[in-house]
Amino acid sequence: MGSLGVDDFETVERELAAPDKGEVQVRNLWMSVDPVTRLRMNRNDDQNIAPPAFALGDVLDGGAVGEVIASRDPAFAIGDLVQSWLGWREAFNAPASSLQKLDPGGLPPQSFLGAAGATGLVGYVGLVHVGRPKDGEVIFVSSAAGAVGLMVCQMAKAMGLKVIGSAGGPDKIALLREIGVDEVIDYKAAGDLTAALTAVAPEGIDIYFDNVGGEHLEAAINAGRPSARIILCGAISAYNGSEAPSGPRNLVLMIGKQMRMEGVTLLAQLDKMAEYRSHLASWISQGKITWRETIVEGIERAPDALVRLFDGKVIGKMLVKLA
Ligand SMILES: NC(=O)c1ccc[n+]([C@@H]2O[C@H](COP(=O)([O-])OP(=O)(O)OC[C@H]3O[C@@H](n4cnc5c(N)ncnc54)[C@H](OP(=O)(O)O)[C@@H]3O)[C@@H](O)[C@H]2O)c1
Repeated sequence: MGSLGVDDFETVERELAAPDKGEVQVRNLWMSVDPVTRLRMNRNDDQNIAPPAFALGDVLDGGAVGEVIASRDPAFAIGDLVQSWLGWREAFNAPASSLQKLDPGGLPPQSFLGAAGATGLVGYVGLVHVGRPKDGEVIFVSSAAGAVGLMVCQMAKAMGLKVIGSAGGPDKIALLREIGVDEVIDYKAAGDLTAALTAVAPEGIDIYFDNVGGEHLEAAINAGRPSARIILCGAISAYNGSEAPSGPRNLVLMIGKQMRMEGVTLLAQLDKMAEYRSHLASWISQGKITWRETIVEGIERAPDALVRLFDGKVIGKMLVKLA
């Protein structure tokens, strides 16, 4: 399919009937915009890391926070805040069992789509449960100024790691310095990525949190210390490609270095949300975690928001404000 454009989308208006018994009607307030939505447009189910691929003409879906506007289920009342997987629409009817009531507890509701939700959780589980960091180790994070990357950098700092972040362009590099990342790489200006990485980590890296794949993954394997761990969270550099990526070409190095590479997928980790949120609350109260959002308004701008995830101009979590 190649690069995504706004012309690949169609916006459709439909009348919404009253909810049936056991259903709830929700008006979405916020929706999450995620790279995985683009990945799900590739018709190769074997390569998908999350819910199934979309077929042509499907209504897209994704994380959303909304407000109950009608209810035919006793568990939900008008005005309740709810989380659902029914983003990419302004309003909907859904069975009560598919909705989660949200108690923001002082946080902005949209943060439950980002730092206090899926974005933070996948970063936490990847870093803590897959990466198993030890105090003083060196971690390399790609797309470090992205939604997941910013959270991982700050969590890793809070855990006493030396953090190296890679991002594209001076604004993102300035943000990484501002949040206390120890070493930064502007990969768009760096040239050879392995050379850039070994220049800032001559001792090598112990952990690589991979959001990007491709050259970043190769550089991390090259720079890995013995027993280094690679957390495969995403491979955004490949999502717009019309052909399968040709690398990493240096996997063989992982044998001698006894390195480990393991995928992390959010949908298998939802049971760790309470554990994550208790750490998050304490990091927030200690001033160790903040987050950034890029917000656009209106469902009609959602396609452009998804396209923009791939042009490098988005900082932090991409969100659409719907009401
Ligand atoms: N496993 C899971 O369950 C799970 C859950 C959530 C997210 N993910 C994955 O985690 C990764 C990060 O997700 P996110 O939501 O935080 O998105 P994100 O990192 O904010 O994604 C947008 C950023 O990706 C970077 N990017 C785009 N194209 C690139 C390319 N060709 N090469 C290098 N960087 C590129 C750009 O930053 P630069 O300007 O710095 O290039 C862009 O601003 C994604 O790969 C996503 O699919 C996985």
